[in-house]
Amino acid sequence: MSLLNRPANMERITTPALANAFIDEQITDMRAQIGDKKVLLALSGGVDSSVVAALLIKAIGQNLVCVHVNHGLLRKGEPEQVIKVFREELGANLVYVDATDRFLDKLAGVEDPETKRKIIGGEFIEVFAEEARKLDGIEFLAQGTIWPDILESEAGIKAHHNAGGLPDDLQFELVEPVRILFKDEVRVVGKALGLPDNMVYRQPFPGPGLGVRCVGAITRDRLEAVRESDAILREEFAKNGLEGKVWQYFTVVPDFKSTGVKDGKRTFSWPCVIRAINTTDVMEVTTEHLPPELIDHLVKRITSEVEGINRVLIDYTPKPPATVEWE
Ligand code: XMP
Repeated sequence: MSLLNRPANMERITTPALANAFIDEQITDMRAQIGDKKVLLALSGGVDSSVVAALLIKAIGQNLVCVHVNHGLLRKGEPEQVIKVFREELGANLVYVDATDRFLDKLAGVEDPETKRKIIGGEFIEVFAEEARKLDGIEFLAQGTIWPDILESEAGIKAHHNAGGLPDDLQFELVEPVRILFKDEVRVVGKALGLPDNMVYRQPFPGPGLGVRCVGAITRDRLEAVRESDAILREEFAKNGLEGKVWQYFTVVPDFKSTGVKDGKRTFSWPCVIRAINTTDVMEVTTEHLPPELIDHLVKRITSEVEGINRVLIDYTPKPPATVEWE
């Protein structure tokens, strides 16, 4: 059984050699814990669950069942990348569930941010539970819990997001192979496991996804405007060497319109807000001031390529007083 607590004298995993030693140790421990039983994992494609998946594939191969739920609020290309990396390249036993319609139908007309979060979280558990019930002989649930999650839940800062929430008929023993690691160590381990850089060095992405960036009641057309503008922003950050340097960057599309002009005709469309922030602890954040040429280029690309956007704004507000996300 893997360690529940990080030993006080544990060396920080900073090199491939230390990562490989950790990987070997975890594989031995997980094989001892799991035997020939089956393990279920909700694979979001985020760093933590991806590293857990890659570790378990090494340890138990096809006895790991990964479930990737697409709630329709993922970034452009994300579900495709999860399928490519895990099913095609690592040969994982991956169940892909496209639940887009289910989520968007439930969210239709819902304006309140916390209600939106509750619907997304609740529906996610329901979809995952339905998939779990279709599978036979699962005894374990793997989770990407990391050491700061434990520290924060002990300090009462954050409720620890875990199996908690699964219905009573679905109770599993937990497998948490990265539980004693800090985030930077998870990345070093992910890199040593051969996961792609854009997965390992990925910026944080909230569980409710683009849903909290499509401000107010989510509509499919405005959600597409968020997804397309986010894809352009990420592409330009990567091209300009800002990927991995800026802590978090994204676009927001609020639900109001303003007048514009395109091809000699009047438009009445949404603005797209760019937000790029830096932080160490997310309690306080500063904003990244972008080079003027990059801003001009982003304005041009977003207004010409994204349907329904006729104006680009930049949010240079630190936290406090603003939160990182708009909702
Ligand atoms: P705020 O907006 O609270 O964001 O300043 C701080 C960090 O947390 C992320 N965030 C979330 N992550 N579920 C998540 O998993 C959420 O509901 C959620 N809301 C905010 C946000 O992206 C930022 O990194």
